[in-house]
Amino acid sequence: MAQIIAVLDFGSQYTQVIARRVRECQVYSKIYHYTTPAETLRREGVIGIILSGGPSSVFARNAPLPDRAIFDLGVPVLGICYGLQLMGHLLQGRVAKSDHREYGHGTLAIKKAGRLFAKLPKKLRVWNSHGDRLIRLPPGFVAIGTTENSLYAAIEDRTRNFYGIQFHPEVFHTECGIDIYKNYLFGICGAKPDWTMREFIHHAVRDLRRQVGRGRVLLGLSGGVDSSVAAALLHKAIGRQLTCVFVDNGLLRQGEREAVIALYKKHFHIDLRVIDAAALFLRRLRGVSDPERKRKIIGRTFIDVFEKSLKSIGHAEFLAQGTLYPDVIESVSIDDNPASVIKTHHNVGGLPERMKLKLVEPLRELFKDEVRAVGARLGLPRSVVWRHPFPGPGLGVRVLGEVTQDKLDILRRADAILHEEMVRADWYWKVWQSFCVFLPVKSVGVVGDERNYAWVIALRVVGSTDAMTADWTRLPLDLVQKISSRITNEVRGVSRVVYDVSSKPPATIEWE
Ligand code: XMP
Repeated sequence: MAQIIAVLDFGSQYTQVIARRVRECQVYSKIYHYTTPAETLRREGVIGIILSGGPSSVFARNAPLPDRAIFDLGVPVLGICYGLQLMGHLLQGRVAKSDHREYGHGTLAIKKAGRLFAKLPKKLRVWNSHGDRLIRLPPGFVAIGTTENSLYAAIEDRTRNFYGIQFHPEVFHTECGIDIYKNYLFGICGAKPDWTMREFIHHAVRDLRRQVGRGRVLLGLSGGVDSSVAAALLHKAIGRQLTCVFVDNGLLRQGEREAVIALYKKHFHIDLRVIDAAALFLRRLRGVSDPERKRKIIGRTFIDVFEKSLKSIGHAEFLAQGTLYPDVIESVSIDDNPASVIKTHHNVGGLPERMKLKLVEPLRELFKDEVRAVGARLGLPRSVVWRHPFPGPGLGVRVLGEVTQDKLDILRRADAILHEEMVRADWYWKVWQSFCVFLPVKSVGVVGDERNYAWVIALRVVGSTDAMTADWTRLPLDLVQKISSRITNEVRGVSRVVYDVSSKPPATIEWE
């Protein structure tokens, strides 16, 4: 079992980034709610604790405070930003209230390298984002770094192995941030770099065999990264005890169904059942143009089809899902302000209980980049491991308004051209998503000497790291030109191509 570094989450927007940086150093990290009792951390055998930053002030009425006993566990603690102020506040230092946040670049002058800053330059550009600041050191601490605005931007208590830093080493704007984590993990916590995807696969295969025994596992395969990697991993562990179900909902991209069959059935020899439900989906979508209603119908129909297909597939004990670590982290909301639902996302929640299946979630410990690394190690091709996200409702939300077979056919052909040109120009791998949208608008064009009154296709190409925000991609104009002229020349029924220059926010990535 890998050693654990606990990241206590105080609601920082960077908590997951901290956990990922630790794992990039090949040390296993786990995110815990800030209220987790010290006893739980002790029982789980954590070898180091990182206190995340957070939007709160230690003076706030509902300031999130950890179990104080974490400071008596005898394991090293690193407080970042709000974490440093917590140390100041809880260990008898003094924190001063501030009305404004210090935000952006600063320069850290290292006064004493010690173990945290071992082998680093004397000055570092660092990223700040904090309000309050420490004005008196807690007993036992010394200052090891200062910034323009703070005498105590970095502090240590060498005896108890407590460290605090005011800035954020996990964001790329901080120079040598990863080296600070490495010093903490290897120099201070004595961690071993034993979290590798090779090791993960080895243990996951053993655990899956143990969990499943001789039982049968079903997996809804969408062809996306998560379900594909889950399929490859399960197949390695339990071979023919795995049955994958691929639902052709008629809202797939060109060649998608064939590609899935070729890879999983012919290459991996997985027991793959393809359910052709296109007609049913289209029938239920007839006459519906409201985006939310379309999403609900598609989600509901998927569940109906999946459930019905199980009757013919036969009995199974388990249902596998490609749940990832960010889906299982209990989120810390400091201001009790749950984000409002902007779009209903399509998933199969609730299915396992209804069908009395036990859940198997082989990827639930992994971040997305780790899932890709596992997929690559298991022999999945680059086109699968690095494919763009594709929404559950598929082309159903990319044909705006009512979905019909004709419109889907036009969109598929246009989208295939965009995809082909993006791959050929090597741009596909550089962007987060690139796809076509069918606009239910007719515009006038000319073909030869003829008037051509036909549909409009929009090109949507965006860069993003997490889909929460996105920027429209400045593709080279000659590439846009090539895509546009191929679509208008090769796809009958399209007279015009437009390029979407909206970022998120205020727009969303998908148009519906
Ligand atoms: P929006 O349009 O909300 O999309 O900016 C953010 C990301 O989520 C994808 N998306 C979905 N993914 N089921 C999914 O699995 C859905 O229903 C769904 N809707 C949007 C979208 O492609 C983008 O990557």
